[in-house]
Amino acid sequence: MKLSKKIESIEKSDLAKVRLMSKDYENRGIKVIHLERGEPDFDAPPYVAEGIYQALKDGYTHYPVLQGEPALREALAEKCRQKNSIQCGPEHIGITIGGMHGLYVSLRTVLNPGEEVLILTPYWLSISKLVGLADGVCRYMPFYTGILDENYSSEQFEKDLRDNIGPKTRVVYINSPNNPSGAVVPHEHLEALCKVAIEKDLVILSDEPYEDIIFDGLKHESIASFPGMFERTITCFAFSKSYAMTGLRLGYIVGPPDFIQLAWSRLILYTTNGIPTAIQIGAIEALRKGDADIERMRAAYQERRDRFVEALRRVKGIRTPMPKGAFYVFADISELRGDRPIYDLIADWLEVGVAVAPGKAFGAEHVDWVRFSTASSMEDLLGAAAALEKRYGTK
Ligand SMILES: Cc1ncc(COP(=O)(O)O)c(C=O)c1O
Repeated sequence: MKLSKKIESIEKSDLAKVRLMSKDYENRGIKVIHLERGEPDFDAPPYVAEGIYQALKDGYTHYPVLQGEPALREALAEKCRQKNSIQCGPEHIGITIGGMHGLYVSLRTVLNPGEEVLILTPYWLSISKLVGLADGVCRYMPFYTGILDENYSSEQFEKDLRDNIGPKTRVVYINSPNNPSGAVVPHEHLEALCKVAIEKDLVILSDEPYEDIIFDGLKHESIASFPGMFERTITCFAFSKSYAMTGLRLGYIVGPPDFIQLAWSRLILYTTNGIPTAIQIGAIEALRKGDADIERMRAAYQERRDRFVEALRRVKGIRTPMPKGAFYVFADISELRGDRPIYDLIADWLEVGVAVAPGKAFGAEHVDWVRFSTASSMEDLLGAAAALEKRYGTK
């Protein structure tokens, strides 16, 4: 069959390559610890499943309300006002099929062909594909590793933003806490971004699925809550990480009314016609009862981060800055790689049973970094660090 050249031209991801490589090693009998994946290893809390089951029994099997169940949007508006300080009502919220769908809907609704999205790097790998699918063009600017290493000032950031915003730039994509680096964007850097966005009349696409996974007492900040930003910010949230609900595919967008209206009255209507109501009712249960579970999982991620970073810092040749959020550790492996291709190093690590994601999956200039996911058991994390220490020696 002749198929779309545009879809065919989408590159396969580096993660798929690592998965394929690890199969080879597993077939040779090597037990591989999979730290390349980015999915919570917890299950969704039971009250979510019960809510969904009850909704199905109650007959919620018909077409959904297009923009999302009113009770869910009411509850989310309350959550966004209280927790995110975003002054919104249910009319500013639209329900999506997970965070990824929210990002696609946002980009598709905002961009005209050829308009640019400035992506701060390293970035979550799907975003560049989503920009392409929405007929946009990606522009990249290094950012999060400077935040992670605490050597990138907000003044420099503001200057770099100005230098990297061209006449076709319409959107800046920001993601804090960040996948893959675990960096949390400081208040003054958010302020710098607001200043430039207002001055240059840009849209901010703020991707916040890790809002609840944040450490060391830091408080998550939503850029839509900053003065003058609500009308130019689209915030994509998801239930996937906070409630370990990845498989239920539920997310939501908070944005200005003209954006929500256009996205839902056209794009959503003619593509999905809404999101299954029963899942949305399960999500209401998550919002009502989930605080303790969010905290339980957050605390577990923090403990894993603490012990894993400590163990990794003992390994010769690996430099490990401390992530402040999300469930990733982004480490500098330049010393180990030398001038070898990164996949030689990935193969070496698979030989000792450790699979990680190469940093270049998250931006070409991050060839000297790898991402470990801490959404894995403590035993696996410490086992992986011990295997690397055995292979490369102790610092
Ligand atoms: C930064 C970021 N944004 C969005 C998503 C998509 O989340 P979802 O699984 O809800 O589609 C992910 C998932 O890994 C992510 O890491």
